[in-house]
Amino acid sequence: MNTPVEGFSRLSKAEKIDWIASNFTKDAERTKQLLQQYWNPDKKVQKVHDEFIENTVSNYYLPFALAPNFLINDKLYAIPMVIEESSVVAAASKAAKFWLNRGGFKTAVIGTEKVGQVHFIFKGDSNKLQGFFDEIKPDFFKNTKSITQSMEKRGGGIKEILLRNMSDKVEGYHQLHCTFETKDAMGANFINSCLEQFASTLKVRASAYESFTTEEQDIEVVMSILSNYVPNCLVRAEVSCAVDALTEDGISAKEFAEKIIQAIAIAKAEPYRAVTHNKGIMNGVDAVILATGNDFRAIEAGIHAYASKDGPYSSLTHATVEGDVFKFWIEIPLALGTVGGLTSLHPLVKLALEILQNPSAEELMQIVAVAGLAQNFAAVRSLVTTGIQKGHMKMHLLNLLNQMGATENEKQQLVQYFKTNTVTNASVKEALEKIQSE
Ligand code: MEV
Repeated sequence: MNTPVEGFSRLSKAEKIDWIASNFTKDAERTKQLLQQYWNPDKKVQKVHDEFIENTVSNYYLPFALAPNFLINDKLYAIPMVIEESSVVAAASKAAKFWLNRGGFKTAVIGTEKVGQVHFIFKGDSNKLQGFFDEIKPDFFKNTKSITQSMEKRGGGIKEILLRNMSDKVEGYHQLHCTFETKDAMGANFINSCLEQFASTLKVRASAYESFTTEEQDIEVVMSILSNYVPNCLVRAEVSCAVDALTEDGISAKEFAEKIIQAIAIAKAEPYRAVTHNKGIMNGVDAVILATGNDFRAIEAGIHAYASKDGPYSSLTHATVEGDVFKFWIEIPLALGTVGGLTSLHPLVKLALEILQNPSAEELMQIVAVAGLAQNFAAVRSLVTTGIQKGHMKMHLLNLLNQMGATENEKQQLVQYFKTNTVTNASVKEALEKIQSE
């Protein structure tokens, strides 16, 4: 059995690799070679990556792709996407092209409010607490001046601080519910720094507040942290066209529109479907979030919470036919940054932002929402017409051939062959074996 390691973080990279290779892998030499193979030959670039996190031993590549022809508010974009799943980028590009000739995507930012909370326990008189809060509220702003100054210069800062009594849920539980504007920064550090200062002000002022009993003076701060649930940091993206313009192979425009409406209605009514429906949206959202160096876990958590804001988990996209107009839209919360964090560190993130014409955070919100909407349109379009597997397996063909060890020449022949034949695991294996035996 392996023994625990002491002081792992202090080992050099080579020592870490030696340790993992010899203790946890069958072929230490192969492990070392593999980890090294993924290093960047440019030492400076490698160092940047090494320093993002702790204990790095290599890099983990994901494809960086482009989905062109996105017309958003009459401006053309090529959207960078980082994702491992085949057919996502192809689907996005196909949806972009479909809507390019039908007016493109229209978007609007509905709100940009970020949230953070100081959670604390106060088991005394709630009215006294409210009076205390009202009295010391200006101090929350005053004591965070050194943190908020530069954010205020950029038009951001603390918007509001509210006291909330939550003691019906947890004994003595109260909170400072705080809202922020962080402009082009995602703002996590700014918000958390403000919150920790609010917590300190709360504690210090309470301890000297004469109307409190000794017990009341001892406010217990449990934690101070931003929330990734940002229902007022919201963006909307929409496409619309005359029903007749919704042309699709093998189906009338009217029937196609009806099927899309039904598919959305099902995703609204049935959480099992809604989760997969929204997963398809996240294929587009996450791919742009990753390419632009934003925090996809935060975005995922916030968006899924939003999907159940009215109770049951439901569809993030909506569709209507009114008169002869088909409308399809998405509304999602997105707390994004285009400055700070990885955005100025990761060379490919910088490039992704440049490709997107250096968007503000609000512009990036709109682009990401479009990627989510396009992805959903593409998925629903396939689902209600040909089924998803036809396109998916075509895109997956190269993965299968690579897994089966096909040569470049064999791949070329088989890509050609499967243009007119159905791709399945078995059919690809059989076709490969056939040309190998010839
Ligand atoms: C696959 O990654 C995503 C889909 O399942 C989405 C959907 O079903 O809407 C195709």
